[in-house]
Order: sequence, then C-alpha cells, then structure tokens
Amino acid sequence: MVLEDRTHIRILHSLKEKRLNYVSGSFLASEIGITRTAIWKHIHKLQARGYRIESHPKKGYRLLDIPDLLIREEIVPYVGTSWLGRSYHHFDVLPSTNDHAFRLAASGTPNGTVVVAETQTKGRGRLQREWFSTPSRGIYMSVVLTVPLPIRNAPSATQVAALALTKVIRNLYGLNAAIKWPNDILIHNKKIAGILAEMQADQDQVKFLVIGIGINVNQSPSELAGPFRYPATSLAAEIGGFVNRQELLLNFLRQFESEYDLFLSRDFTAVLPELEAASAVIGKTVTIHSERGEFCGKALGFTPEGALRLSTEDKDEIVIWVGDVTRVEGTF
Ligand code: BTN
Repeated sequence: MVLEDRTHIRILHSLKEKRLNYVSGSFLASEIGITRTAIWKHIHKLQARGYRIESHPKKGYRLLDIPDLLIREEIVPYVGTSWLGRSYHHFDVLPSTNDHAFRLAASGTPNGTVVVAETQTKGRGRLQREWFSTPSRGIYMSVVLTVPLPIRNAPSATQVAALALTKVIRNLYGLNAAIKWPNDILIHNKKIAGILAEMQADQDQVKFLVIGIGINVNQSPSELAGPFRYPATSLAAEIGGFVNRQELLLNFLRQFESEYDLFLSRDFTAVLPELEAASAVIGKTVTIHSERGEFCGKALGFTPEGALRLSTEDKDEIVIWVGDVTRVEGTF
C-alpha cells in the first residue's frame, strides 16, 4: 500500500472516531506526524474522492458522509482477512476487471489480489455474453487465486465462490438465494449474480485462476430490464431499500476466504453438502446445454470435483463438466 493511502486511512480513522464532531488540524498533524499543511492537502484529496468533510478555520475538520464507492480506504482497513483482498485495486472504470486481474496474475500478483471497478465498458459473462455494469450500482470484481490446483478441480473454485456469496446474501438480507449450477445465483428464480472463472494452466495444473463476480446490488428494475435470457433482479429490488455495497463486499471477502481455506485444507467434499443444499437444480429435472449436446434429466448431485451428475432416460448417471442449465422444472 502506498504511503498516501496509509495516511488517508489514518486521517479517516481519526475522523470516524469523532464522527460528526470536529478534529483539529494540529491534533491530526501530531497523530500522524506530518504538518498541518500536509493534512489540509490530504483532506482535499479525500474530498475529491467523495468524502464529505467540512473544514472550519478554528475547529478543524469533521466527517459528514462517506462515499458509496468500493475504494480501498473503506475496504482494506476493515476486511480482517489474512490473504484475500490484502492486495486491493480499485478503479472508477475498467474495460473488464477479469482482464485486468488476468494481467496482474500473469505478472505475479499475490494470491488473493482483488480488482474492483465502479463500472466496466466491456464486462463479460460466460459464453461471450455481455455483462452490463451500471456505474456504482452493482459490484464488479475479480479475485486472483494462485494456489496450484489440478485442472480437474478448477470448477470447484467457482462453486466455492458461489456458495460463499449465497451464504452472505442469506445471512445479511435473509433472502433465499440459490445456486444455479455452475455460476449463477438466483433469488426467486431471477438472476442476482454471475461468476466467470478464467485460468492459465500448465499441462494438468492450474497456474492461476481469476474468479470474476458480478452482483446486482442497487439497480432499479428498469436498469435491469434488457435482452437477457432470463429475468434479473437486484438486492435492492428484493429487499425494497438501499444496500450498502461496502458491507456486502467486506462480508463476501471474509466468507470466500474461509470457504476457500476449508476447500484447500480438505477437499471439495468439505463444502459439498452445503453446496447441494444451496443448489437451485439438485433434485430437479433440468435441461442442460453442453458442448456434447443437450441433455435432459434429473440433477443428482456433484462429483468431488464440482461437475454435475445427471440421470437421464438412457443412462443412470452421466457427468457434465461444462454446461449451461437452460431449464429447471417449474421455473424459467
Ligand atoms: C455470467 O453470469 O455469465 C458471469 C458474469 C460475470 C460478470 C463479472 S463482473 C466482474 C468480472 N468482469 C467481467 O468482465 N466479468 C466478471
């Protein structure tokens, strides 16, 4: 973290402790060990980032409002994880957080690096679909995972991310989120989030994975209307109120780290029961579009690598590694 960021975090810490009350410039200067003029310059930079800080010639500074942005000042000091999000990159705009994270990963960024953008100009979903990224309404992020994995275990990482997000949505908002294998999170059969995993591999080992996650948070129904394959919703639309994106991101990072640690320390079977319980497809009759063609059958469960086990009319069990669920009985 650069020195300027550290100074901002310390100034904000002091202002937040006295929230709505004034903190004098000389107090801040002596706390941080810089001049009052330097404090004044940093306050200006924080104001430019969207912090509403009032300054009074005699009383000093007071914090009135924090911007609704996923800036490092509001994430890194509070995340409390040991590896996920310790390296954190925030942008106002990127073509795609996955592309940026992929480049960072290829040049050796640490495990757990997180890239977040307020908006994307070329956000991508699976199967070359477009991902609309309404500025500062959703969460558009990518996580770099560098712990080596056999290629056949790569799908598990997407599943673990999906499970972590589902749990957070349930715990924070009491919404009945479910996972539509392999990468969609649904609420009331509408899409609330999607995951796009990409990787670089060496023979049969994954060198790194980039897990891209898009969450619909504060979009209005009209912002979500579009030429989508099936309907989308947002957390705000579901709970009927504004959702704090910072709180959601912090909770997701903590949960994902703990689920991923569990997965690495044991194996996929450690998260399998919860994953099957959170699934929107297990036990249902589904239609799946895959590279091998279209399959219809009952989704039985997952293999120890995260592939889907399906019982069809012809076969007791087939295993599908990559596919798109296009129909679930009784829903879309
Ligand atoms: C899908 O539903 O098909 C996956 C959507 C993944 C979207 C996210 S947004 C952040 C990251 N950057 C991208 O370009 N895509 C992913």
